[in-house]
Amino acid sequence: MIDQEGSFSVEAPSNIAFVKYWGKTGRQYPINPSVSMTLKNCVTTCDVTFRKSDRLELVNYRFEGRDNQAFKDRIEKYLHDISDVCPMLNNLAISFETKNSFPHSAGIASSASAFAAIGYALAHIEGNKDIASRASELARLGSGSAARSIKGPYVMWGAYEPLGVSDDYATPLEEVHANFKSVRDVILLVDTGTKSVSSSQGHALMNVHPFKNGRIEQAHHNINKILRSMQNGDWEMFGEVLENEALTLHAMMMTSQPPAILLFPQTLDIISKVREFRRDTALPLYFTIDAGPNVHLIYPEQYAVEIEGFIKQCLAPLCKNGQYISDENGMGTRLIHE
Ligand code: PMV
Repeated sequence: MIDQEGSFSVEAPSNIAFVKYWGKTGRQYPINPSVSMTLKNCVTTCDVTFRKSDRLELVNYRFEGRDNQAFKDRIEKYLHDISDVCPMLNNLAISFETKNSFPHSAGIASSASAFAAIGYALAHIEGNKDIASRASELARLGSGSAARSIKGPYVMWGAYEPLGVSDDYATPLEEVHANFKSVRDVILLVDTGTKSVSSSQGHALMNVHPFKNGRIEQAHHNINKILRSMQNGDWEMFGEVLENEALTLHAMMMTSQPPAILLFPQTLDIISKVREFRRDTALPLYFTIDAGPNVHLIYPEQYAVEIEGFIKQCLAPLCKNGQYISDENGMGTRLIHE
């Protein structure tokens, strides 16, 4: 049962996938399980106001202090689309006022944090007892990867029997070695423009991809390996899978029809510099990349001094206006004011 009216705020982070979700089926179900790290600093803050109504009404959607028609249309469609699984929406007038802690179009998954915030808000209004699973399920219906932003620091989404993980909502990983307690993610902003291929287009291309079955098999293999490496604290095995996943994602895009090349020359330069640094120093610095040109550098906090020095000196010059964002593992979505 929902109250007659109310207002509250939610803070939801973005996340970075270690094993990628690429390709979907049915109602936003992934074709393979994925594992991610929830971020701490890259967050969406969402102020919510609602009241009971005789119909579903998105009264207002403001982003960064301004009305935003494109976002409003997307959220309106989402609310209507999910009203069968979230029937309280049929009697709700709701407004969202959101802002991001990170630059818009920085190539950070802003739809993950935005839909995590909205999914959490709806689950909160519903008064659901298992708010995390319900919020994750509702977030998933907006953007698949958003399902993983509800909890932290490490999360899995997509049917995986050994750990009882479901396609419907994400589940935090319980057994993670102390070597993964404090992990950094430095996001190198190679380009901040709009991507030439959206993730929805990319997912759709996977359905007719000649390597689809091979990719699904490989993702399962990588899931087993990454889970083992995170349980055992084995950074070398972890890094091998992390980079393999990033390069596979782009290989899938490059070999889809039509093909998409989202990597920039600077991305490749960064990759080779990271590998060279690792060879020279033996420090556990690894990269991953989402569906864009920007590079996420993943490493244990204990090596932050050496690695940050390297980033500043050798990698920042390859970024757009020298920009990068420093983040770390975080705990997920939460209510900040009620
Ligand atoms: O949640 P979506 O539909 O934007 O898809 C995200 C896909 C990747 O970011 C490329 C991979 C992932 O698992 O987050």
